[in-house]
Amino acid sequence: MRPGGILLNQQTISLWLASSVAPRFEPLRDGVHVDVAVIGGGITGVTAAILLKNRGKRVAVIEKERIASGETGNTTAHITEAIDARYQTIGRTFSKDAAKQVAQASRASIEQIASFVREYSIECSFRRLPGYLYTEKRSYVSEVKREAAAAADAGLRVKLLDEAPLPFLTRSAVMFEDQAQFHPREYLTALAERIRGDGSFVFEETHVVDIREGEPCVVECTNGKLTADAVFMATNVPIAGFTSLHIKDAAYRTYALAYAIDEKHPDGMFWDTADPYHYTRWQETDAGTYMIVGGEDHKVGKNEDTEESFAKLQQYTTDLWSAHPLHHRWSGQIIEPVDGLPYIGGSGKLYVSTGYSGQGMTFGTLGAMIVADLITGRDNPFADLFDWKRIHARGAIKDLVRENVDFPTHIVGDRVMRRDVDTKQLFDVKSGEGKIVALDGRKIAAFRDDAGSLHCVSPVCTHMKCDVSWNTAEKTWDCPCHGSRFTVDGDVLNGPARESLPKIFLDE
Ligand SMILES: Cc1cc2nc3c(=O)[nH]c(=O)nc-3n(C[C@H](O)[C@H](O)[C@H](O)COP(=O)(O)OP(=O)(O)OC[C@H]3O[C@@H](n4cnc5c(N)ncnc54)[C@H](O)[C@@H]3O)c2cc1C
Ligand code: FES
Repeated sequence: MRPGGILLNQQTISLWLASSVAPRFEPLRDGVHVDVAVIGGGITGVTAAILLKNRGKRVAVIEKERIASGETGNTTAHITEAIDARYQTIGRTFSKDAAKQVAQASRASIEQIASFVREYSIECSFRRLPGYLYTEKRSYVSEVKREAAAAADAGLRVKLLDEAPLPFLTRSAVMFEDQAQFHPREYLTALAERIRGDGSFVFEETHVVDIREGEPCVVECTNGKLTADAVFMATNVPIAGFTSLHIKDAAYRTYALAYAIDEKHPDGMFWDTADPYHYTRWQETDAGTYMIVGGEDHKVGKNEDTEESFAKLQQYTTDLWSAHPLHHRWSGQIIEPVDGLPYIGGSGKLYVSTGYSGQGMTFGTLGAMIVADLITGRDNPFADLFDWKRIHARGAIKDLVRENVDFPTHIVGDRVMRRDVDTKQLFDVKSGEGKIVALDGRKIAAFRDDAGSLHCVSPVCTHMKCDVSWNTAEKTWDCPCHGSRFTVDGDVLNGPARESLPKIFLDE
């Protein structure tokens, strides 16, 4: 029996979380001082912590849930130099030299991951294989050709092909040689185990609620506080300061399915050029082989019927591949930077790394490498290009306005009652359903569980006061402005929000 079994219910859990057992790390105890506090136990935070520890720093990773339970636990783990922003675009909007640096930085990240796997003998199914950017449409062929040329100019080992090695019709493809894949949770937990000890720590189930810069910095958590000389927010999006980044990043929801397969499959990772796009790869686990298909991205909070996104992805898969049993389905957050490149850096005390698009494995590793260099006073050849304070590339301002179009709307919506507020009474909210309802002129985000009990919270996001929207598949409240997400009881799932949605108690 494969872990998780055939999907019979509507639960969402990633293949990685379902197919591995992770070691536990204790929550924070008061009174700890370290050189560097790293907030976030995803690929960025754990990689930074091990790099810093290896340079003699005492570090503490502080994770509000479990190691690799955030986006790194919900990724599809293509480790690749191919970038969503496209080399042709970076060459045009930044410069050709910038495109070369992006290629070099991506390669350095792949090799950093490979070197940890080798050095620590990590069993995480790390494997090198080619990646293919392909199109099924004639109208995209010239774009694929341009990308092949731009990637080659940037110094990547690529080949332009008439078709991708897939069992359906494709019109052209760029093959990127020597990409990689792995089991991200097995990789990360193996690294995390090497962090603790000799004055360094990994704390799980420790939620950071405040960071005060100073001598030393104070990191306030729900279960105690810790002091540190420097703080790295490796929280996918910053949870304190760096406010300008909230209008330079946009959060997208992306979906993934894992099917059990027995037959021979193509050897590679595949990315199409559709909009929304799709990505496919295969993963061997102890329990067998899975085909992982992902895509159907949309802006967070913009599509309430997230079941529909899963249904579309399933339809896409069955249209192209023969039927296979679906074992796991999950979704997560992709942070899109306005000019296509991540924002990495910080001052002498506070550091950040965010905006990876769909390349969080490489860019997360890169963010860790750059920040570790900044903290330890080493030169990093890529620090300037990815600097979070950089001037925007040409054309980015237009995108910035487009991506943040929800922000003013939702703020205004918060002051006056939104026209689309459902004025049904609370008793009309059905089991398993979430709705924003109006009661005595006050808006309430209401969810009714299977036992019939109502869970009511304020619908006003605690980050910058936009209204949250209901996410049907995951049963969460999602903020369309900067991507914060909350449970039905208001607890924070994704930042930048740090505080829960206030609970509302009422007698029905
Ligand atoms: C479905 C999907 C498919 C993807 N596919 C790919 C792919 O194929 N290749 C690729 O390169 N990238 C992919 N990505 C993107 C990639 O997974 C992410 O960019 C990457 O994992 C982000 O890593 P991170 O360390 O920044 O964030 P995370 O892994 O989210 O880590 C941040 C951690 O910070 C913790 N945290 C947040 N706030 C606090 C707080 N207040 N206190 C304490 N802890 C806190 C969170 O719990 C979380 O564990 C995909 C993403 C998704 C969702
Ligand atoms: S995430 Fe910024 S207002 Fe909600």
